[in-house]
Amino acid sequence: MRERGTVFGEMADDYDRVRPGYPVALADELLAAAGPGPVLEVGAGTGKATRLFARPGVDLTCVEPDERMAGVLRRNIPGITVVDSAFEDWQPPRPYGLVVSAQAWHWVDPVRRADLAFDALAPGGLFAPFWNVFLVADPALHAALAEVDARHGLADETSHRRSAAARTPLGPFEQEWADLHLTDGRFTELRSRRYESALSYASEHYRDYLMSTSRYRLLDPGTARAVLDETIAVVDAHGGTIDFVVDTDVALARRPAQ
Ligand SMILES: C[S@@+](CC[C@H](N)C(=O)[O-])C[C@H]1O[C@@H](n2cnc3c(N)ncnc32)[C@H](O)[C@@H]1O
Repeated sequence: MRERGTVFGEMADDYDRVRPGYPVALADELLAAAGPGPVLEVGAGTGKATRLFARPGVDLTCVEPDERMAGVLRRNIPGITVVDSAFEDWQPPRPYGLVVSAQAWHWVDPVRRADLAFDALAPGGLFAPFWNVFLVADPALHAALAEVDARHGLADETSHRRSAAARTPLGPFEQEWADLHLTDGRFTELRSRRYESALSYASEHYRDYLMSTSRYRLLDPGTARAVLDETIAVVDAHGGTIDFVVDTDVALARRPAQ
């Protein structure tokens, strides 16, 4: 997983151009619910989420191991504190009232990451990893893309694998919390939140988006070209645009105040 986590830097500028951001209401609510102290972002990338938290009065530190992503981050948000390190290799110098991670927590060592989050938090501090979940709005387009993916063995990992027609409600997140090792009794106030938004890509832009994901970047170039050509042809045959409902799902856990 960690090797896959370095593929983004190969195309940091393209990543910044094609990836969506996150709802501003998410940052509003996390900052309001945070414990006292500074804010830490793990795996900040080029700053897609960082820009929401970089506000006057917010003492923000970003940890980002890929120097190419960190370079774009520093350019996008001048003056913020960026630590060039994997989270696992960094010793937090002070406790944080809020630790966030946007689309990056799955790259941190699954065995150590809950301990690392807990240790980075101040008493009463809030931990909030979140992810964008894409749902294809048009069921016919979803079915046609699923057929392409199945033929290329990509069925379970593309950003268009879910249909808005089969959207699952935001569950209690119990399995996810267990997977994140947040259910061992140390964290309290386990909650989840969903923020809904909409996103559209013209077909060629969607091609660039797909090439910004690790699944496609790790295909051999011939296979990537073939599957992307077919995918884009399908989008073009359905009007030339792919519309998504985007669920930004957040897992919330608090380090007890005592
Ligand atoms: C999918 S990108 C997300 C970037 C950004 N947060 C966003 O929402 O666009 C994943 C990021 O996690 C970083 N990353 C990978 N392994 C990491 C680790 N062990 N600790 C911290 N960040 C890591 C990558 O360099 C990359 O910038």
